[in-house]
Order: sequence, then C-alpha cells, then structure tokens
Amino acid sequence: MEKEDCYNTAVAKTLIQRDKACIWHPYTRIQNARDPIPIIKGKGVYLYAEDGTKYIDGISSWWVNLHGHVHPYIVEKISEQAAAIEHVIFADFTHPTAIQLAEKLIQFLPGVMGKVFYSDNGSTAVEVALKIALQYWFNSNSKTKRKKVICFNRGYHGDTFGAMSVGERGLFNRPFWNHLFEVEFIDPPFSCNEEKSLEQLRAILEREESACFIFEPLILGVGGMHIYQSRALDALLNLCRDYHVLTIADEVMTGFGRTGPLFACEYLTEQPDMICLSKGLTGGFMPLGVTACKNFIFESFRSDELSKSFLHGHSYTGNPLACSAALASFELLEKSECDLQRKRIAEQHQGFCKKWRNHPKLNRCESIGTILVLEYVANEQTNYQNSLRDKLYGYFLERKILLRPLGNIVYVMPPYCISPEELTYIYEVIIDTL
Ligand SMILES: Cc1ncc(COP(=O)(O)O)c(C=O)c1O
Repeated sequence: MEKEDCYNTAVAKTLIQRDKACIWHPYTRIQNARDPIPIIKGKGVYLYAEDGTKYIDGISSWWVNLHGHVHPYIVEKISEQAAAIEHVIFADFTHPTAIQLAEKLIQFLPGVMGKVFYSDNGSTAVEVALKIALQYWFNSNSKTKRKKVICFNRGYHGDTFGAMSVGERGLFNRPFWNHLFEVEFIDPPFSCNEEKSLEQLRAILEREESACFIFEPLILGVGGMHIYQSRALDALLNLCRDYHVLTIADEVMTGFGRTGPLFACEYLTEQPDMICLSKGLTGGFMPLGVTACKNFIFESFRSDELSKSFLHGHSYTGNPLACSAALASFELLEKSECDLQRKRIAEQHQGFCKKWRNHPKLNRCESIGTILVLEYVANEQTNYQNSLRDKLYGYFLERKILLRPLGNIVYVMPPYCISPEELTYIYEVIIDTL
C-alpha cells in the first residue's frame, strides 16, 4: 500500500518537479535556475518538449549532432550492434566496429596518423593526448626531459584537471587554480597580433623545456568563438616542428565538417602530430573520444619496461555501440548530399555576415563553415557573465529556438539537415534582438 502511494505520487508529479528533486545539471546556476525543459522526442533539427512545443536546435545540442536528431540510419546501426555485442573489455580484446572506425579515421584524418586511442568524451581525448605527449618525452632517451605544455590564452579543452590546466584561467576553473599544472600561455594569432604570438612562442621554444603545444584549430570555441587564419597557425606549427615540440590539434568542436572541410586542419599545410576528436564523432548519438597520433609517437612506447607503456584506459574504451554510431555517422558525412548541405549553410552564413557585418550593435559578425558568430556591443566586459546572455537566451527560447549565447556572443551551429527556411527563421529572430 505504502509503495503504491509512493508510486502514485511520483506519477502525479511533473517531470520538472521530479528532475529538480534529484538531478544536478551541468553548467547551471542552482539559484534562480530556469526550470529544465523536458524533451521527449527529437526529429531532424527539432526537439519536442513534453508540452508539445518544438524547438529548433540551433547549436546541435552542445555541438554534437550532425545529421539531425534520431537519424534512422544511425538508429538502425546502433540497434544492429546492440544485438551483436554491446560492450567488451578493450584490453587484450577487440571488435570489428572499433577496427573499422579506426581504419576510417586514419584514412581521412589530415596528416599521417598511425594509431587511434579511444576514450569517452572531449576532455578525456585531450587528457590522453597530453599524457601521451608528456610520456613521449619521459620515454625518450634524450637528455632533456621536456615537461611544459604550450597553449593559447582564451583556449578551452574541457573540464577534467589536465584539460582545465591547458585552458584559460577564468570563471570556469577559478576554484581549482591552485591545483592546475603550470603551462606556458601564448596569445592566439588573431589578425592584429600574428607576429606577437609567433615571437611569444619562439621565446618559449628557445628554453627547450616544452613537450607539446595544444590548440583549437582556426576557431577558439568556448573562449568566445574567435576565428583566426590558417597561415598564422601554420607559422606556429612550423616553429614547433623546428624545435621538435609535439603539436596537438583539439578538433573536438571543429571536427566532422563544422568549419567546412571534414577537419579544420585540412586548411593547414603543416599538420599536427596528434588530433583529439569527440562531439560530432558519433553524430551526437553516443559519448566517444578519440586521440589519434603519428606512428613515431606510438613507437616511443614500445619497450620491455612496463613503465614505458601507456597505462591508461577507461571501462567503456572502444564501446561497440558508440563505434557503430560513429561509423554510421561517418558514412552519412561522406555522402555528397551532406557536403552540399554544409556548403549551403556556409553560403547562407556568409550572406548574413555580408548584410549585417556593419550593424552598429555588433562588434563582430563572421562565419567559418557552418558556424556563424555575432558579438554584441555591450557596456560590460565581453565574457560569459555578461548580463545580455540571459536576456538573449530567454528571448530565443520564447521564439522556440535553442541558442546558448556565450555572454554577449551569439553563435549558430546547426545540424547539417537544417533547411534554408529554418536557418532564415533563426536569422530573423537574431535580427529582431538587434
Ligand atoms: C575544443 C574542445 N575541446 C574539448 C572539449 C571538452 O569536451 P567534452 O565536453 O566532451 O568533455 C570541448 C567542449 O566544449 C571543446 O570545445
């Protein structure tokens, strides 16, 4: 009887009440938090709420979704995989889907990547890359044991301790500053300071203490969606190569077509030694991280000494369901139709920028591939805490669009299946806010 009462109470409560009773949400202030919106269905570019409202997902649910929600081909492939093998330990065992995915990635990744290491998300893909780079120098016979990591001011690479250490010291990680390892920061090579960035890097490299340089290629995402030129990055990578410093491209956000080509590094002539992937990797269906590296790095771990092996792994490393989603998503990505969709979005974004670039309420209006960025003029500092953020976020939601501004910076990063009309609707609502 008591149990039944308890059950009935649970049913009588709304999803929102039940959520609030037991769930702690990411990146959410507890005080004055909005009620979460219960989503019960997705299809294409739309998210369907319990109350019948449908929202256009203008940010691909934190940049993960590529081909639209509940894409039937990915659903089918995950379900086939689940019926065969859902998971298997990945040390001393393997499975065909992980092998096929690794073969595919190695074929398509820029540079000549030799091996793929699986993990669970973007932060772990970065942690793995950093650990591999540091251990590469630990394993090496060179007299200098290089330990420092070089990274960009305003960079973001995730929320685990290593990933936080190589990111901007700011609001996101303030309570942990004392626990983050020391790194060497350089300014990103924005068009106004390409030379300065190069000189800062040169000064650090000359000390011969640096193990690696990690960077977000062509656009710094969480740090404010700042776009920079490929030739400026080429110059930095070139210099790193002269000083034998390993280079790590964090393509967690930019990978799988976001900037136009499959990977942002395709814009470069100088290729990185490692690449981190996640987010769009599975088309937004399953958590999965990948750290790809060149063979000379892998070979530096071949030793009779166990301490020179890479003693790192996660319970769900190489999960077959996640790998099957990634393979299916990649097949969709390879279709000429997807290429056309990305080109169309890029052209529409460019058209928008051309028209609105000089609007007096905008400091910036620019795009790269399928990513559109607008920085609103604001009296306060341009950052995540800018009060415009909550106003804009609410305004967009009221108009059934999911856009999550980074302070006074609004960006659009839709699933590739968005129609020209749906994108135009997003533009119209943005223009209203100006
Ligand atoms: C460039 C970059 N690297 C790493 C991460 C961390 O990924 P995750 O949130 O999956 O840990 C992010 C997340 O936004 C990112 O943008």
